[in-house]
Amino acid sequence: MSEIRLTPIGFVRSAFSETAAIPKGLGAQHDAEGVLEIRPELEAGLADIEGFSHLYVIWVFDRAEGADLVAYPPSDDRPHGVFSTRSPQRPNPIGLTVVRLLGRDGPRLRVRGIDMLDGTPIVDIKPYLSSIPPEDLKRGWLEQAEQRKKR
Ligand SMILES: C[S@@+](CC[C@H](N)C(=O)[O-])C[C@H]1O[C@@H](n2cnc3c(N)ncnc32)[C@H](O)[C@@H]1O
Repeated sequence: MSEIRLTPIGFVRSAFSETAAIPKGLGAQHDAEGVLEIRPELEAGLADIEGFSHLYVIWVFDRAEGADLVAYPPSDDRPHGVFSTRSPQRPNPIGLTVVRLLGRDGPRLRVRGIDMLDGTPIVDIKPYLSSIPPEDLKRGWLEQAEQRKKR
């Protein structure tokens, strides 16, 4: 497989017109509200979504420039492999954000937890479900960066 073509199912409407406005780094709170504007002809695909509190939003970093296998996350002063981070500069510029579903007006989903620029293309939405007990989760280098910051 050499190439995959995807068509956006919709676009993010957010208050963020530039990346500098989006909270970053350790302790950043992502509580911005916005709208996932799904193409009206796909509205039938949203049936029953209201029952879920949280959604995965799969989207494209359409304004990312280039890709790098080493990332310098704002949450650490050390480099990390890109696949250990959420860097926008990745071989396939796919973003994944978990949002809280606040409500639905037809093909428009009102959500909280937006970290995307206004106009970001959405390629898929899925209900958020996790069966992993919190005690089994390891936070990798992020946990070490948090410990260093506390010292
Ligand atoms: C660190 S990434 C994490 C995104 C997502 N939660 C993830 O894990 O894939 C979030 C940053 O991506 C950048 N960003 C947001 N929307 C973008 C877009 N459409 N194109 C390029 N960069 C974008 C902003 O700088 C934002 O702070």
